[in-house]
Amino acid sequence: MATRPAPGLFARMALRKTVEQVQRETESSELKRTLGPWNLLFLGIGCIIGAGIFVRTGSAASLHAGPAVLLSFLIAGVVCALAGLCYAELSSTLPVSGSAYTYSYTTIGEFAAWIMGALLLLEYGLAASVVAVGWGGYVVSLLSDFGMVIPVALTGPTGHHVQEAGVDVLVNGAPVTYLFNLPAFLICAAMTALLVVGVSESAKVNNVIVAIKVTVITAFILICGGYVIAHIGTLKANWSPFIPPATGAKGEFGWGGILRAASIVFFAYIGFEAVSTAGQEAKNPKKDMPIGLLGSLAVCTLIYILVSIVMTLIVNYKTLNVPDPVAVAVDALGPQWAWFAKLVKAGAIVGLTSVVLVLMYGQTRIFYTMARDGLLPRVFATVHAKFKTPWVNTLLVGLITAVAAAFFDINTLGDMTSVGTLAAFAIVCLSVIWLRRTHPDIPRGFTVPLFPVLPALGIVACIALIFTVETRVLVFFGWYTVGAVILYFVYGMHNSRLYKGLDEIEAAPMGEYVAPIRQQP
Ligand code: ALA
Repeated sequence: MATRPAPGLFARMALRKTVEQVQRETESSELKRTLGPWNLLFLGIGCIIGAGIFVRTGSAASLHAGPAVLLSFLIAGVVCALAGLCYAELSSTLPVSGSAYTYSYTTIGEFAAWIMGALLLLEYGLAASVVAVGWGGYVVSLLSDFGMVIPVALTGPTGHHVQEAGVDVLVNGAPVTYLFNLPAFLICAAMTALLVVGVSESAKVNNVIVAIKVTVITAFILICGGYVIAHIGTLKANWSPFIPPATGAKGEFGWGGILRAASIVFFAYIGFEAVSTAGQEAKNPKKDMPIGLLGSLAVCTLIYILVSIVMTLIVNYKTLNVPDPVAVAVDALGPQWAWFAKLVKAGAIVGLTSVVLVLMYGQTRIFYTMARDGLLPRVFATVHAKFKTPWVNTLLVGLITAVAAAFFDINTLGDMTSVGTLAAFAIVCLSVIWLRRTHPDIPRGFTVPLFPVLPALGIVACIALIFTVETRVLVFFGWYTVGAVILYFVYGMHNSRLYKGLDEIEAAPMGEYVAPIRQQP
C-alpha cells in the first residue's frame, strides 16, 4: 500500500508510491513484452539522433569551441553515461512506464516527482520545439535548392535580424527582422494532428527511419572522411588552432568555450533515456534495458565524434553557424556532390520529423501519467472515445511546442532544454542513491558500479554543466522552478490521489492508451 498521509509538511512532500505499488501497476498493464535488446537499441538511437547533430553542432563549434567541439561531445557523452548508468539501475529495478517521473515518485517522493514533471516539460516539450526549428531550417534549405523560396520573414524567430554569412541584411539601411517561423509551427501542428488521431509510428516504421538517419550520417562520415584524408595537407589548417583562444567573454572559446559547447551538444544525447520508458514492454528488462540505454549512448557518441571531426576539418568552424551545417560541409566537396547535399537534407528532414513526433508523444504520456496521479487536472487523462488518445492533453502540448518553435530562437530553446534535462538527470542520479539507502535489499537487475561515487559524480557534473549556459537562461530556469514549486503547493499537493488514498489502479487502464511508437506492426 502507499505510504499514508503523515503529519508535517516535509513528510507530506515525501509521500511516495511504494515499490510494491509500482510493481502492481506494472502487472496491471496491458502492454505486451515484445521488445528485445535490438529494438531497445534502435528505440534509443531513434530518439537520440536529431537536431543536436544536424543543427546545434554548427553554432557550438562556430561560436564556442571551434574544432575542439569534439571534446565537448566527449564531455557531454560522459555526463550522459553517468546518468545512463543510473537510468539503467532504476529501469532494471522498477520496470515501469512514466520514466524519471515515476522513479522520483517511488524513491524521493511526490514533491520531487512534481519538480521532475516540470523539468520533463522542458526536456520533451521544448526539445520538440528545438527539433521543429531544426526541421524548418533543412526544409527551407532543400526547397531553395529546387528554386522554391518561402518569404524570409516567415522562416525565423520573432524580432531577430535576418543575417547572411553572419552579417545583418539591410533594406533601405534598416535591418530586416523575422515575423515568425512558419515551417517550425507547421511541423508541430502536423505532428499534433497525427498524435490526436493516433496515427503514429510502429516499431517497423521507427526502424526504417533510424536506418535512414544512420545511413545518411554514415555516408557523410565515409564520403567527407575520404575527402579529408585525400586533402589533409591543406585541410589541417582548419584545425589550427584546435582550441581557439578564449576571447574573454563567458563561454567563447578556450576551455570555457569547450564546456559551454558541451551544454549545447548535450542536447544531441537527449532521448537515450526514452529506452527506460519501455520498461513494461521489454522482454527481459533486467538484461536488455542497460544494453539499450548504454549501447545507444555509445553508438551515438562514436557517430557524433566522427561527424564533428570531419565537419571541422572540411570547412572552417567559423562558417558553421547556419541552420544546416552538415549540408554546408557537404557543399565544400564541390558541385559534383550537390546531389549528396540534397540527400543529406532529405534524410535530416525525415529523421527530424520522427524526433518531433517521439518527443511530443513522450510529453503527452508524462502529462497523462501525472493526471492519473491527480497531480494535473483530470482532463489531461481524458481519452478520446474514437481515437483512444489523450486528445486535450495532446492539443495543449501541440500548442505549447508550436508557439515556442514559431517565436523563439533555437539557441535559447536549446539551452532551456539542456538545463531542464541536466537538472532532471541530477535528480535521477540522486534517486539511485536514495533507493539504495531506503531499499537496500530489493532485487536489482543492474547496479551502478563504484557506488556511490559514480551517481554522486553524475549529480556534480550535471549541475556544473547547468552553470555554463547564459545568465538569462539561468534566470529563466530559476523563475520556472519557483513557479513549479508554487503550483505544487497551490494545486498538486491538494489533488494528489496518493494523498487522498485513491492509489488503486483505475478502471481505465494504461493499456487503453497504448504506446504507439512501440506497437509491433
Ligand atoms: N537528441 C535529440 C536531438 O538531437 C533530441 O534532436
